[in-house]
Amino acid sequence: MAPKSNQTAAIILAAGKGTRMKSDLPKVLHEIGRRSMLAHVMDAAKDAGCHPLVVVTAPDMVHVERAAHRVDGDCRFAVQTEQLGTGHAVLAAKDVLEDHAGDVLVLFGDSPLMRPDTFRRMTDTLRDHPDCAVVVLGFDAFPTPPYGRLILGANGELERIVEARDASEAELSVRTVNSGVMAIRAGLVWTLLAGIGNHNAQKEYYLTDIVAAARKAGHRCLIVRGEAEEMMGVNSRADLAAAEHTFQQRRRAAFMEQGVTMIDPSSVFFAADTIIGRDVTIEPNVYFGTGVRIEDGVEIRSFSHIDGAHIGQHSIIGPFARLRPGTVIGEDCKIGNFVEIKKSTLERDAKVSHLSYIGDATVGAEANIGAGTITCNYDGYNKYETHIGSGAFIGSNSALVAPVTVGEGAIVAAGSVVTEDVEPNALAVARTRQSEKENWAAEFRHRKLKDGN
Ligand code: UD1
Ligand code: MG
Repeated sequence: MAPKSNQTAAIILAAGKGTRMKSDLPKVLHEIGRRSMLAHVMDAAKDAGCHPLVVVTAPDMVHVERAAHRVDGDCRFAVQTEQLGTGHAVLAAKDVLEDHAGDVLVLFGDSPLMRPDTFRRMTDTLRDHPDCAVVVLGFDAFPTPPYGRLILGANGELERIVEARDASEAELSVRTVNSGVMAIRAGLVWTLLAGIGNHNAQKEYYLTDIVAAARKAGHRCLIVRGEAEEMMGVNSRADLAAAEHTFQQRRRAAFMEQGVTMIDPSSVFFAADTIIGRDVTIEPNVYFGTGVRIEDGVEIRSFSHIDGAHIGQHSIIGPFARLRPGTVIGEDCKIGNFVEIKKSTLERDAKVSHLSYIGDATVGAEANIGAGTITCNYDGYNKYETHIGSGAFIGSNSALVAPVTVGEGAIVAAGSVVTEDVEPNALAVARTRQSEKENWAAEFRHRKLKDGN
């Protein structure tokens, strides 16, 4: 048999109904920075070196399990058949941790702003105090949210936790509250939890009662303090928006620290996985969806919406550009206003400066796509590709009806509807030739006047 692991396991509680969200989606799958709250918590646990991760779900939560599995293929699952409280939820993980001999860190899937360093401070405290059974992460808050109150003894050590609903007037005046995160000594967690009852306002088995149980058994319990902002638990849509706000502020600060210029950081929104290089300038009102990578020296102008795109060095994007998933922009390209690009690759120095739609296309180096060019990539059933060679010039207001290839260095005359491939270096004119009737307009007006108009 393999030796039991001594690492710290993380148990992440995610089985709660999340009634206050008023949503069909399980609470922990609601997103912050376009990544689920559960994934944020799992990322932080992994970064803090926890292994394995156990996610506690309710029986009908296959989507939660799938989402967790995508974050960590090694993740284990425990099903809490009935939602009888946070203490009951932790106990549900007992069987899947049978092979585990290390300490346990309990995390809540609805607290997405926790930092790995904070978890490490907790596990370090447990390690440095061998007679301590439980370390609780708390914070001081005024006004004080309706969280569990941490009742400390005269020596500053934790004696018990009282839920706000069960607290007396005097207990409610305590400003140090429970974040929900606990580090619990290996070997003690299951026995201590087994002794907890549900004689409280909600008739639930509270994890927080583990503190009084540990004290009764003669163990010490300690607190580690953190920042209120980091500890926030999301219970409603308003909380979700507040957590998003904090997340965005953190990302903006981190990017500026890293060498990104933002003229108005408060109007730029990042996804959790956005990657941005140095000396990138972002003008006000820019939105990044998931899967975006911006290389050094890029300029993103106002009102651009960028999703699933890779942008090469020194390119200029926008204002008012929309880049959709599968877009790869090479170096020194220019994508101008009111241009939409989807699932297309543009090589270096390509320009699409105004009012175009480029979808399912490849555009070669130094090609110039004139204003109003459309790749007609869809016939209502299937999608087709357009290939534009390097150095090609597409005249304004052209429709390129895919599948179609415009060869290297070719020129397409303005206003063309191109339905056949164009040879390299050729000129394609696909529109009727202009004809002129001398003096026709003047005669027309004269006729109309005579008719009494
Ligand atoms: C909990 C704490 C409270 C703390 C607050 C911080 C308890 C009893 N209370 O209260 O002291 O100040 O968090 O945010 O622990 N869950 C399950 N199964 C259950 C019940 C809950 O998995 O049967 C999960 C939820 O999905 C959630 C987490 O546990 O991720 C916390 O549950 P929630 O109902 O939000 O607890 P709070 O009332 O916020
Ligand atoms: Mg909560």
